Amino acid sequence: MPTVMETPTAIGGTSVPFQGKSKELQAGTVANTLWVTFKNDATAFNGEKHAVFEGKGALNKAFTQQFFELLESAGIPTCWLSTGELPETAVYRTLQMIPVEVVVRNVAQGSLCKRLGLAENTILKAPLVEYFLKSDALGDPAIPPSAITELGLLPSRVCLKQLEWMALAVNTILSARFKAAGVTLVDFKLEMGLDSEGTLRLGDELSPDGCRLQDAASGQSLDKDVFRKGTGDLIETYQALAGKLAKSPWDLSTLPIQTYTGVVVVQSRANILNPQSRTLTHTLQQTFVPAASSLLEGGAIQQVDSQKRFQVSITATHHWQALALFNQLADEPLSNPVIEDAFVEDITLAKERS
Ligand code: TMP
Ligand code: ASP
Repeated sequence: MPTVMETPTAIGGTSVPFQGKSKELQAGTVANTLWVTFKNDATAFNGEKHAVFEGKGALNKAFTQQFFELLESAGIPTCWLSTGELPETAVYRTLQMIPVEVVVRNVAQGSLCKRLGLAENTILKAPLVEYFLKSDALGDPAIPPSAITELGLLPSRVCLKQLEWMALAVNTILSARFKAAGVTLVDFKLEMGLDSEGTLRLGDELSPDGCRLQDAASGQSLDKDVFRKGTGDLIETYQALAGKLAKSPWDLSTLPIQTYTGVVVVQSRANILNPQSRTLTHTLQQTFVPAASSLLEGGAIQQVDSQKRFQVSITATHHWQALALFNQLADEPLSNPVIEDAFVEDITLAKERS
């Protein structure tokens, strides 16, 4: 998939104008904007299979607009700015893309079954988030979280948990939206990046090119699998999906309210002299070290820092909304922002499947 890039950097590496497999990017007339053309090309198996379908670009632009606008209204930032002049064009914010594809799965299909030997169509106990390195040369291999850090693929202010929480929030919203149209969201792929102000946003596109979707009643494929497997007409399939969505208007207010438990960690700023930590370190060095000399075997206690951890349960409709609430609490009143740093360490949903 093409990336949406401002300048080549360590994260990403594409500059505009850019010809991707399914989109074409040009610099917009306004700073930090891109003109995006959704192409009629369809590719599969890392570009090995290719065909052109009249009308595909306009369909995918319309799906992307519908889903990005829905997610924006739920508080999830995206690259979407406006529609372009043509049915297949759009204006995006320029993002510095993270070269990692984030895949969320509700049902086991595709590469998950091949890699783990899981039976096709196994319903997963909870949504599974996986990461793939965005590299055509390597065939987008699965990448372990520690390797994402090792390769320096995340910008300094972004942690992998944020990618996971954003992906899970998108899953909650899109799963419910598709369910209302009688469609099961099996799995999908997201790409994310930072805008010029450092906000993490969804980039790329959201269309049946990057999702597996099935008619909930018949199990019929409503996505690019019909092209990958040669089992149906791509345009008719995408039109059928668009028709199902159009026939079933849906509102965010119908999302179930659930309980999310967050862990907020508060600690002294590294450069702030913390009297409590200093006293504790001194006391341990004076009393504990001599008493435990045989255990320490010549080692020493260098520093002891105290941390506060708060476990907070709140109600929200998705992970990103829960994160916004936890962040707000973390800033104040749970911490004193003048002398302390606070961050959200973990978010868990009380019950994953209803
Ligand atoms: P996978 O089962 O092949 O790993 O694919 C998981 C989901 O990610 C599926 O909905 C298709 C999507 N996907 C892309 O959009 N682009 C890709 O390059 C790949 C490999 C998968
Ligand atoms: N998007 C990839 C390609 O164009 C792989 C796929 O979607 O199957 O080749």
